[in-house]
Amino acid sequence: MYRTNTCGELRLTDKGKKVILAGWVQKSRKLGAMTFIDLRDRYGITQLVVKADAEKELSELAESLGREFVIQVKGEVLERESKNPKIPTGEIEIGVESINILNKSVTPPFTIEENSDGGEDLRAKYRYLDLRRPPLQRALALRHRLAQEIRSYLDAQGFMEIETPYLIKSTPEGARDFVVPSRMNPGQFYALPQSPQTFKQLLMVAGYDRYFQIVRCFRDEDLRADRQPEFTQIDCEMSFVEQEDVLNTFEGMMRQMFKNAIGVEIAERIPRMSWYDAMDFYGSDKPDIRFDMKLHEITSLVQGHGFSVFDSSEYVGGIAVKGCADYTRKQLDELTEWVKRPQVGAKGLIYIKCNADGSYKSSIDKFYSPEELAQVAGSVGAESGDLVLILCGAKRKTQTQLGVLRIEMGNRLGLRNPHEFAPLWVVDFPLLEWSEEDQRFYAMHHPFTAPKPEHEQWFYSDKKEDLERVCANAYDFVLNGTELGGGSIRIHNADMQRRMFDVLGISKEDAEYKFGFIINAFKFGAPPHGGLAFGFDRVCALFGGQESIRDYIAFPKNNQGRDVMIDSPSLIDQSQMDELCLQSTAENK
Ligand code: AMO
Repeated sequence: MYRTNTCGELRLTDKGKKVILAGWVQKSRKLGAMTFIDLRDRYGITQLVVKADAEKELSELAESLGREFVIQVKGEVLERESKNPKIPTGEIEIGVESINILNKSVTPPFTIEENSDGGEDLRAKYRYLDLRRPPLQRALALRHRLAQEIRSYLDAQGFMEIETPYLIKSTPEGARDFVVPSRMNPGQFYALPQSPQTFKQLLMVAGYDRYFQIVRCFRDEDLRADRQPEFTQIDCEMSFVEQEDVLNTFEGMMRQMFKNAIGVEIAERIPRMSWYDAMDFYGSDKPDIRFDMKLHEITSLVQGHGFSVFDSSEYVGGIAVKGCADYTRKQLDELTEWVKRPQVGAKGLIYIKCNADGSYKSSIDKFYSPEELAQVAGSVGAESGDLVLILCGAKRKTQTQLGVLRIEMGNRLGLRNPHEFAPLWVVDFPLLEWSEEDQRFYAMHHPFTAPKPEHEQWFYSDKKEDLERVCANAYDFVLNGTELGGGSIRIHNADMQRRMFDVLGISKEDAEYKFGFIINAFKFGAPPHGGLAFGFDRVCALFGGQESIRDYIAFPKNNQGRDVMIDSPSLIDQSQMDELCLQSTAENK
């Protein structure tokens, strides 16, 4: 028997028991003639002690142990003299009677403790060592727990877990595909799924009316803290449902996940907000509603006072930042530079300080009387002591910039507690998005999303303004300013699907080539259906109170899309290239 107990298990009630433990040596220290060893496994840390009166051979063996040696020890559970209240096993230690070295270790490149001294790159290279650290073990344990809750909830609701293929044809989620050359079909390529979207719809046609899958998806896009090239979705689809059925089903799932995995009770009914309100009041399609600081439009109030910057803007809007009227010139200059960064893209920032003494100080004093400034401040909800921040320009663009500024000010004021949870459904998205650059419409969600039945007349109109007005039965699940999931009620009729491809400027031939299989399937009695997918990595990170999804993935990629541990991507043999009929032009790049 390798072990009778784990390193996180023994308590004072076990005093006197003879036990065998196995694990990794985290630390070993000599104190006079005694040696103390911290033995670690994924369940915790237990202190071992080799007493002063131990046999010489045992003492020497204990002293010889290096960090990360794997050992097995036999001994007795003793009550500690100096207890450590910080760890669950802190009241006991094991009086060691024998040590068996199961494997030695070279000195690890960084400390494997709660906080490591290793930099990110080094830890990524030795990910298997980093994964021994408690924070990562907690992260993966949370991921596991959430996966179990999802399966138990969806199983109880009658969902079937069905796998769909990875070697497929391009899917329309809007990112670049990863492609895989086919040896047996020279010159042809599979695409890895950006999501199982088309397959889950085909499963609905096949009659599997409640499907789910915890499934890997692949997207070749620029990476960020919450984006990986391969990530996991909780992918779901249901037949014979309306939007309300889908939202209710997945509110239930979220409620169970919050409660059972992290002990958080969320509101009985998750609030819903239209996409238009989200943009107008939060400048974002994923509002963080943990704090207020809403956007207020002041265009008509401020125009016509001779300030040409405002007069020539489609939209002027502001936010009231509580208690920040004492911002210094330097702080305001820094904030102005901040909004001008390319990531925000504003041309400048205008402020009004609502001083505690009732006076106003503003960067636009010249154009507005104190009474007018008071009126502007009042209309964005500012009170004495607050700072009003104003941006102007094209409507949606400026709202988005104000939204980014709002989040920044929320961060600066500590209003975004990661352990407070404010879920939200954003609904009623526009179906289509016009691209000035490409002079064509794109699907805001994806081309299988159905227009709202009451907007269908506009969907079949040829006028751009009509098409822009069409809303979709589409919804996003937003948590604390992050889009955790999204979905829609789908088109289930071949004619409407054709019309959609038409509106998107996808030719009949192209649609046939790319999606003929689904248009065809819709001719064989496709039921009304809809669904959604959650980003599982994001769910895990947010539940864990973190922004980066990397720690919740056992073996993630870095920002360049590389796995630095296995050194991938990498070159392949010429013979493999030949077999796949591939030729590289990389040296020309
Ligand atoms: P969507 O493209 O919105 O919808 O993706 C669903 C969710 O997946 C997560 N996500 C990501 N997570 C990590 N890294 C990425 N690169 C990444 N890209 C997306 C997000 C997102 O909300 N087929 C549709 C769903 C449907 O209509 O049912 C789809 O894939 O959390």
